[in-house]
Amino acid sequence: MTNQRIAIIGGGLMGHGIAQAFAVAGHRVAIQEPDAGRRATIPGHVRRNLQALGEDLAAADLIHPQESLADAVADADIVIEAVPEDLALKQRILAAVEAAAPPHALLASNTSVIPITRIMEPLADKTRAMGTHWWNPPYLIPLVEVVQTADTADAAVAAMIGLLTAIGKTPVHVRKDVPGFIGNRLQHAMWREAIALVQNGVCDAETVDAVVKASFGRRLAVLGPLENADLVGTDLTLAVHEHVLPDLDRSPAPLPLLRDLVASGRLGMKAGAGFRNWAEGEREEISAALAAHLRRLDDLERG
Ligand SMILES: NC(=O)c1ccc[n+]([C@@H]2O[C@H](COP(=O)([O-])OP(=O)(O)OC[C@H]3O[C@@H](n4cnc5c(N)ncnc54)[C@H](O)[C@@H]3O)[C@@H](O)[C@H]2O)c1
Repeated sequence: MTNQRIAIIGGGLMGHGIAQAFAVAGHRVAIQEPDAGRRATIPGHVRRNLQALGEDLAAADLIHPQESLADAVADADIVIEAVPEDLALKQRILAAVEAAAPPHALLASNTSVIPITRIMEPLADKTRAMGTHWWNPPYLIPLVEVVQTADTADAAVAAMIGLLTAIGKTPVHVRKDVPGFIGNRLQHAMWREAIALVQNGVCDAETVDAVVKASFGRRLAVLGPLENADLVGTDLTLAVHEHVLPDLDRSPAPLPLLRDLVASGRLGMKAGAGFRNWAEGEREEISAALAAHLRRLDDLERG
């Protein structure tokens, strides 16, 4: 698993971060980005990230921005597509990758929510195609969800998981191509209930966030929900579910409160208002606090 040749298609937020994660582990990465302006900024972005993390800047020299997709994938062992979230575009890109990449290369999409099966429809050989759902920023969040479709060969999934483990990520195997994979299903199950609590007048948005941050949010990094259920006992968990589940929101569609916010232009921090009002500069403060928190966790893990 050393010296794999990696090709990333799309050099945006996720693409350059994924490239960085592989380069830091010593792999050569070609990254295809059609926008000349963006392409030129990739090495600088990576160097700034490495500097902030106190890592060797030499890793940036392993990343080679490319204009042409065919050149980027010509000798690749692994190709990861990270272009915008558009099914037709992703299908076109994957078909072009299949035509230009070596037949042994593993092909992956970094889609957030589009079914991997749909993206891979145009491929002649679907056995080597899968999802690899990285989380932002890819060089600081350990998880990568490796999504197997009904066509993906077990050996291809195992090889991808082996490679991701070797570069220090925490890959997990998603055995069915379900919408939202694992992480986003869990995350949005909670967001739906959070919105329902506000919509139903139980509390305001600040209170929802305070409750999560000051209680189970603190435990989550060391105690997952099912570990927690085992810790308190499955009998207690069953008793809690008997009481609480009938009252939880089960709407199969986005809640009216969310639709109203969007319709009235309350689009969140970028608009100065969403579930709550945001003052000028608060967005930058929160982003900086989050980055510092993730870096501290990364430092702790690396000792
Ligand atoms: N942003 C996140 O937090 C996040 C997290 C997980 C997954 N994703 C998914 O990753 C993918 C990329 O998201 P992003 O946030 O990096 O988007 P982005 O807009 O930052 O980057 C996409 C890049 O693809 C390039 N591109 C456009 N057309 C292209 C083409 N034909 N060929 C090659 N490159 C092309 C764009 O110029 C841009 O640089 C999306 O599918 C997104 O849903 C995003």
